[in-house]
Amino acid sequence: MEYKLRKAEPKDVPDILRLVKELAKYEEMENQVTLTEQDLLEDGFGDTPFYHCVIAELQPPTTDGVEVVGFAMYYFTYDPWVGKQLYLEDFFITQQYRGLGIGSHIMRHLSDLAMKTRCSGMMFVVAENNEASIQFYKRRGAEDLSQEEGWRLYRFDKESLVKMASAREE
Ligand code: COA
Repeated sequence: MEYKLRKAEPKDVPDILRLVKELAKYEEMENQVTLTEQDLLEDGFGDTPFYHCVIAELQPPTTDGVEVVGFAMYYFTYDPWVGKQLYLEDFFITQQYRGLGIGSHIMRHLSDLAMKTRCSGMMFVVAENNEASIQFYKRRGAEDLSQEEGWRLYRFDKESLVKMASAREE
């Protein structure tokens, strides 16, 4: 099986959304994906890209036309203690192509990118029941910050933001 890794282009948006949904399904949260192709196009390929993707593409495509079999979505964040960080947001290889080294190749690619952009680390969140991925990351040296440093993940949903934004000072 031959494949190559490459940076995603606007034409990849339908495949990116397909893989985002496949990962959400794998995590049993498919109904939470509300994003559209238009959102992905505007947010990733406008003047200020809010995300980047690396794509694993079969070469040549399969007889039924499958080309894109995996991806990682990432962006850069900033930690006021240590500076630039690469944030790995989504990472997924289609089931029948897992265990062939594509995921490790993507991790090497992202590590190399992190070094080139002088990031001090790569952050990500993983569901605690996704034991296979936890082990995949741990074998590569990842630390569990929730356990070791006691960090908890929080979010303000849109409703809370609307409330705060419209709150008047007393
Ligand atoms: N499926 C998954 N892993 C397998 C496997 C299979 N069928 N067969 C073997 N493995 C082992 C490999 O030996 C390898 O072990 P290693 O860590 O000692 O190298 C590891 O699992 C997979 O390595 P690799 O082939 O390089 O990665 P991959 O292409 O399978 O991609 C994931 C890794 C995690 C991206 C992929 O398994 C996946 O998409 N999982 C489901 C989605 C997911 O959990 N994403 C991460 C969300 S945080």
